[in-house]
Amino acid sequence: MKTLIKNGRIVTAVDDYKADIFIEDEKVSVIGKALEMEADTVIDAKGNLVIPGGIDPHTHMELPFGGTHSADDFWTGTRAAAFGGTTTIIDFAVQTKGESMIAGVDKWHEKAEGKTAIDYGFHLITTDFEDKHTEEMFTLMDEGVTSFKLFMAYPGVFLADDATIFRAMSAAGERGGLICMHAENGIVIDEIVKRALAEGRTAPKYHALTRPTVAEAEGVHRAIAIAEMAESPVYIVHLSCTDALNQVREARDRGIPAFAETCPQYLFLSIEDYGDDWDGAKYVMTPALREQHNQTELWKGLKMDDLQVVSTDHCPFCMKEQKELGKDDFSLIPNGAPGVENRMSLIYNGGVHENRISLNRFVEITSTAAAKMFGMFPKKGTIAVGSDADIVIFNPDKRQTISVKTHHMNVDYNAYEGFEVQGVVETVLSRGKVVIEDGEHKGKQGDGQFIKRGECVKI
Ligand code: URP
Ligand code: ZN
Ligand code: ZN
Repeated sequence: MKTLIKNGRIVTAVDDYKADIFIEDEKVSVIGKALEMEADTVIDAKGNLVIPGGIDPHTHMELPFGGTHSADDFWTGTRAAAFGGTTTIIDFAVQTKGESMIAGVDKWHEKAEGKTAIDYGFHLITTDFEDKHTEEMFTLMDEGVTSFKLFMAYPGVFLADDATIFRAMSAAGERGGLICMHAENGIVIDEIVKRALAEGRTAPKYHALTRPTVAEAEGVHRAIAIAEMAESPVYIVHLSCTDALNQVREARDRGIPAFAETCPQYLFLSIEDYGDDWDGAKYVMTPALREQHNQTELWKGLKMDDLQVVSTDHCPFCMKEQKELGKDDFSLIPNGAPGVENRMSLIYNGGVHENRISLNRFVEITSTAAAKMFGMFPKKGTIAVGSDADIVIFNPDKRQTISVKTHHMNVDYNAYEGFEVQGVVETVLSRGKVVIEDGEHKGKQGDGQFIKRGECVKI
C-alpha cells in the first residue's frame, strides 16, 4: 500500500515546512518537494497542517473501578481517540493485590488484542512490589511494558506505601523503567472525606472540597524525594494545580529528573463546574478540578517545560447508572471523566489559537514528548523517514462545537459540552492506513497493534 500526501505544511516538534510525504509499508519512506511517485492513494493536504499522530499516554479503557467499569472498551475508546487525531494510547493495566505483575498485564492483553482502532501500549498499575517482584518487572520491561503507576491515593484499593514506592522506583531506575505517580495524600484525604460525610455534606462538589491542593503538593514532594533516594526518574501523572507544579519546578531547577503531565480538564475546567447540584458528578475525577487561577500557571508550566505532556486520563463513566452509584454520597461516585477524543482540538485552540504556546510546542506536548518519555521515539511522535506513518491532517482554520451529540466516546455526556474550538482533525492515518476521513471511521477492529516500548525518558 503506497500513499502520497501532497501540498501539506509539515509540523513536528522542531520543523515547519511545506513538502510531500510518500508512505510505503506503513512507514514514511520519502519526504520532498513535488514528489511524483505512483501511489494507491493521493491525499491533498493543501491549506492544512500535517502533524504526527497524537499520543495519549494516560487512558483507562474498561477499568474496573468504584463498583463498575469505565464505559469505553478498547474498541469504542480507541475509535473515538482516532476521530480526535490520537493514533497511540498507553492504557493502564492493573495488578490487583496479591496478583502477579505478569498476570495483570496478560489480562489487559486479552481485553485489547484484536479490538483496537489504533496502536496501544500498557503501563502497569502496581499495587504490590516486594523485592521478589523485581524479576517480574524486568520480564515485563523486556516485553515492552516499561512504565508502572503507583498510587499514594485510594487507600485499600490502589494505595502503595512509601516502602513499596521506594522498592519499585529503585528497580525501575536500574533498568531504564519509569514510575508514574498518582501523587496525592490519600490517607489524609480519606479522613477529611469522613468528616464531610458525617456533617451531611454529600453533594458532588464536596469531592473537590475534601481534596485540597496541598494534599497533591505533599504527594508530589514525597514522590520526588523518594525518587531522589532511589536514584530514579519520576513522572507525575495528572498534575492539576500550582502548588503541585511548584514542587516539580523546584526539583527540576535542582537538576532532578522529575517530569509531569497535566490534562485538558485542569487547563479548561474549574471547581466552579461542580455547582451545587447532582450535575457536578460529571466532574468527579481525581485530582479534582481546581480554582481557575491554577490554569494560568499550568499553561506557563507547559510553555517553560516544567510540564512535558498533555494526556487525558480518559476514564468515562455514564451519568446514568454509573455516576448514580454515588447519588447520596459523593465518595461513592466513580472517579473519572471522558476526554480522549477532544484533546488535540482543545489544546490547539487553547494553546496555539489563543497564543499560549507555539505550533511546535503543541506537537511536542501532544505527541513527541510522550514518545520520548515512554520509549517509542522515533517510531512514534514525529514525521521522519523510517517513522511509522501515524499522521494527522489538521485544519487550523475550521471550527467545531464539542458535544455529546456528535462525539464517539461511549458515554452519555461530554465534559466540554458547548465549547467552540478552532482546529479540526480532517484525516488520520495509522501506520499508513487512512482510518478517519470525511468524518467517518474507515478502519476496523484490530487495526491497532501492541507497541513494545523500549527504555523510558530519552527526553
Ligand atoms: O479520576 C480518575 N483520575 N480516575 C482514574 C484513575 C486515576 O487515578 O487515574
Ligand atoms: Zn491517578
Ligand atoms: Zn488515570
